[in-house]
Amino acid sequence: MSILKITGLQKSFGAITAIDGLDLTVEEGEFFALLGPSASGKTTSLRCIAGIEKPDAGQIEFEGSDVVPTPIQGRGMAMVFQAFALYPHLTTEQNLAYPLRERGIEQTEVVRRVAEIAEQLRLGHTLARKPDTLSGGEQQRVAIGRALIGRPKLLLLDEPLTNLDAKLRHDTRAEFKRLHRELGMTILYATPDELEALSMGQRIAILEQGRIRQVGTPDQLYDAPESDLVARRVGSPVINLIRGTAKANATINLPFADISGGNWARTIAGFDVNTEVLLGLRPSQLKLVEGTPGGPNFKATVELLEPLGDVTILDINAAGVEMQMVLPEAKAVGFKVGDSLEIEFDPTTSLLFAADTGTAIS
Ligand SMILES: Nc1ncnc2c1ncn2[C@@H]1O[C@H](COP(=O)(O)OP(=O)(O)OP(=O)(O)O)[C@@H](O)[C@H]1O
Ligand SMILES: [Mg+2]
Repeated sequence: MSILKITGLQKSFGAITAIDGLDLTVEEGEFFALLGPSASGKTTSLRCIAGIEKPDAGQIEFEGSDVVPTPIQGRGMAMVFQAFALYPHLTTEQNLAYPLRERGIEQTEVVRRVAEIAEQLRLGHTLARKPDTLSGGEQQRVAIGRALIGRPKLLLLDEPLTNLDAKLRHDTRAEFKRLHRELGMTILYATPDELEALSMGQRIAILEQGRIRQVGTPDQLYDAPESDLVARRVGSPVINLIRGTAKANATINLPFADISGGNWARTIAGFDVNTEVLLGLRPSQLKLVEGTPGGPNFKATVELLEPLGDVTILDINAAGVEMQMVLPEAKAVGFKVGDSLEIEFDPTTSLLFAADTGTAIS
């Protein structure tokens, strides 16, 4: 059952359109990630959902009823802000208890729930301390605890890990997944970070310029992006998109090779000759030719090597086209800038997009 259903949401600030016809459905109990670059409208979306911002148009249904007229407090949601603020003069215990005291909840119940949330978020050792004596991660957990303590039905998290260092981000990602599992709560999690969105989100919406471009599981977005934009947003290193033209016999003419045999072949067979297309090849799809090539192959020159331990990322150039490929460390060892490589790939896993609209061709 869906807990949140947004249709046709619009929000402008003067001449800036922050949200431009946003449609989104979140299922009850789901960990849903909203992935978009800076200024794509993540915070504005969450603020509209929470009731902090009033949309110009569109519907926000929560548990089956329109909540646009409902004030913030009545919505049964809690939001942890991008720049979260704790009360500096209050201890962890007092910060956590604050929302409950505001609501006049009885003291023994407050104490019980503070203890419970402190235990869940591993904040027990910080209860008597003030925010400026806590680590960044601990402060973050107090802010989250303060949002959770009122037992919201929907938790809105706005880039909650941005201010943490890499190690803590990793640990906190695991922590969020654990909390989600244990509390069975619906979470809407906004982030510009692909890794965060894909590792935590059961489904992910790709947001761009105030509009959702695609919603799917990590696998759906990676394997079947509906546009070149989504293909570029999901997958690291970024997919290689190579401009080419459709030719007779369902072949794509690229600067360095002619490619046939893709799953798109039947579709392009009906195209006008010379239609411009973008062929998508993931860096991990490119392999070194060993023996006789089994499919499309081409020569390229190594321009840069970036060893990352278990794998090496290579910047390569094939007939003037810059691409990246990923090789297991054992295969990359010994290569140097200027070396010539023979590369092949399996055309059936290549993606194809219309060059003008970016729409996937399958
Ligand atoms: N109060 C405001 N007044 C004017 N413009 C605003 C306001 N709030 C947001 N905007 C604009 O709306 C657009 C979307 O902003 P929003 O904060 O929702 O983006 P975001 O995806 O959260 O970005 P970030 O990742 O940088 O936090 C931006 O162009 C921003 O400048
Ligand atoms: Mg934001």
